[in-house]
Amino acid sequence: MEFLVVFTLLFMQIYTIGANIPAVIVFGDSSVDAGNNNQIRTVLKSNFKPYGRDFFGGKATGRFSNGRVPPDFISESFGLRPYVPAYLDLAYNISDFATGVCFASAGTGYDNATSAVLSVIPLWKEVEYYKDYQRKLRGYLGDQKANTILSEAVYLISMGTNDFLENYYTLPNRKSQYNVNQYQDYLRVIAESFIKELYSLGARKISLGGLPPMGCLPLERTTSFINGKGDTCNDEYNKVALAFNGKLYGMVKRLNGELSGSQIVFSNPYAIFQQIVRKPSSFGFETAAIACCSTGLFEMGYMCDQYNPFTCSDANRYVFWDSFHPSEKTNRIISDHLFKTVLSKFLP
Ligand SMILES: *[C@@H]1O[C@H](CO)[C@@H](O)[C@H](O)[C@H]1NC(C)=O
Ligand SMILES: *[C@@H]1O[C@H](CO)[C@@H](O)[C@H](O)[C@H]1NC(C)=O
Repeated sequence: MEFLVVFTLLFMQIYTIGANIPAVIVFGDSSVDAGNNNQIRTVLKSNFKPYGRDFFGGKATGRFSNGRVPPDFISESFGLRPYVPAYLDLAYNISDFATGVCFASAGTGYDNATSAVLSVIPLWKEVEYYKDYQRKLRGYLGDQKANTILSEAVYLISMGTNDFLENYYTLPNRKSQYNVNQYQDYLRVIAESFIKELYSLGARKISLGGLPPMGCLPLERTTSFINGKGDTCNDEYNKVALAFNGKLYGMVKRLNGELSGSQIVFSNPYAIFQQIVRKPSSFGFETAAIACCSTGLFEMGYMCDQYNPFTCSDANRYVFWDSFHPSEKTNRIISDHLFKTVLSKFLP
């Protein structure tokens, strides 16, 4: 009897340790940035009202939404804190970051030239911050504990939209060097070496995010309208997103075989996002064509501030919060879907 109790307790302890994801570690752009841009010199910020008005305490953290972004919901689904703090946020220290940390920077991309457009943190520098984090974590917990966290943590990667919309289709440089198919390959190669670098640094459970139907962002609809194409999604951009997602998916399948002991998944938001945009009402939304903030046609960042009289009162009725970013409710629907269908596979 006593033996059984001791055995059961021991088993439970082992099970509990083995069953938990110790941390969520995030790389990417504004789809997942928790406020790193607050600390750098860029015009791309959102640490002012009405951003964050539905976040804990109504705080404008620098997340590009009215509330939480996907890593926050995913962290909560793994039984961790209901939000993932930004590495550069001075309100947090290594004891907070031991269970989750975000290195993402709004406006960045795979391509160095993309992060240069608005002077935000390039991907290579997100990796430098991650190395710095590793050193601090080892100093704080000791090598063994820190290494366990680093290898059992779930790594979330989400970027790529800016490489196309802010860079390739807006500036002349990359377009003169590559056709859009070649540019996708250029980005895919960077994504591959990034994943391999994370692996060499100890990461094992990696989620690579796909692109949304980026031609349906309100800003792109407005642009279509201005260009005389009516209020429609930009089909070309959506086709590019689909094609790029296909390339990423193929790479993820291959890397699982190449990197032994790795578990790499492709978190593809495209289909669910497309369903929401096509039929907002079946998800409880009123519209996907315009955003909540301001006129909803083109504003984001500083153009979407508290002095704007047109901002909607209930962001839950809108698929998009500003012209480029989903509302918290959309973020939650997509995160829950990805957790159920893909990310829960990381649970031991
Ligand atoms: C982190 O901050 C908390 C309070 O904000 C403090 O109690 C703790 O000692 C700090 N930890 C480290 C490792 O600096
Ligand atoms: C991006 O810039 C960094 C730092 O200059 C450099 O090390 C890296 O090779 C560049 N990446 C690509 C794909 O050119």
